[in-house]
Amino acid sequence: MSQAVLIARRVFPEVVERLREHFTVETNEPDEVWPQAELIRRLQGKAGVFVTGSELIDATLLAACPDLKAVCSMAVGYNNIDLPACTARRVLVSNAPDVLTETTADFGFALMMATARRISESEHFLRRGEWTKWSVDMFAGSDVHGATLGVLGMGRIGQAIARRGALGFGMKVVYHNRTKLDDSIEVALRARWLAKDDVLREADHLVIVVPYSAASHHLVGEAELALMKQTATLTNIARGGVVDDAALARALRERRIAAAGLDVFEGEPGVHPELLQVPNVVLTPHIASASLPTRRAMANLAVDNLLAALGTGPHKGKPPTALNPAVLSPT
Ligand code: 8YV
Repeated sequence: MSQAVLIARRVFPEVVERLREHFTVETNEPDEVWPQAELIRRLQGKAGVFVTGSELIDATLLAACPDLKAVCSMAVGYNNIDLPACTARRVLVSNAPDVLTETTADFGFALMMATARRISESEHFLRRGEWTKWSVDMFAGSDVHGATLGVLGMGRIGQAIARRGALGFGMKVVYHNRTKLDDSIEVALRARWLAKDDVLREADHLVIVVPYSAASHHLVGEAELALMKQTATLTNIARGGVVDDAALARALRERRIAAAGLDVFEGEPGVHPELLQVPNVVLTPHIASASLPTRRAMANLAVDNLLAALGTGPHKGKPPTALNPAVLSPT
């Protein structure tokens, strides 16, 4: 009998078909977000699970699902998966890096531009029928070209945003990252490493792209916002919880910074009620990687990993983007 796998959310039909060629597959066609008890129930007897960024894979779930051998996510961020707990149980975990880098950077840049140029705010004004005359400073925002771009988190996506800013828009790039980039990359991106507080002080447009962890929880809160220029914008495409949303809403309301662009939120899909009230914020529902070709590539990469982790497919035994490949080595 073939091994059984679960696809935790609705995905593209061709992705399901690829798995059906090798496994008995249970899907979630209604695309419900299952509570953890339901996820555990459906994982009984399953050797693998295809997840997104929404499913919590923690020690409790692993203890309750002894047959599970592989957890393959179509997201690059994996803060929803307890990697050490999976490794301790010899459960293979994979994420989906690289395939979404350029698409996500496009979106981060677009959100930053929409924020700087007040695109949402002015569209709402127009839709409300309030546009009755032209005036000299109507929705006058700040420039992107030639401004200073501050990047917190200079991984693959941060670098792709920096490249757009430096080479496409003549921006000066300052960044903070735990490790400074090689000089050759800094030269190519025209980027300068600074201490975090100095990035906050110098940026005209701050873009946050750090992974979420206990160490990055509220990386930008009241104290950090106080360092920013009153004319600056903040764009968060990282994860909810990296920014203190309540502190940000206060800073926006009191115009201590000019505007924000947010694709991720603490407690999403809930959004802090004060963020919904302030006009100077562009809000999007966690769609930075959402181009169809990229979402397909992310899902297919998760399938490549799941096939390989369960001993089949072209990468048999060698999942291409495993986070703990050592669990597959013989002990
Ligand atoms: C996804 C993301 O939309 O990849 C990530 O880490 O945040 C997004 O690209 C989502 O998490 C996919 O499940």
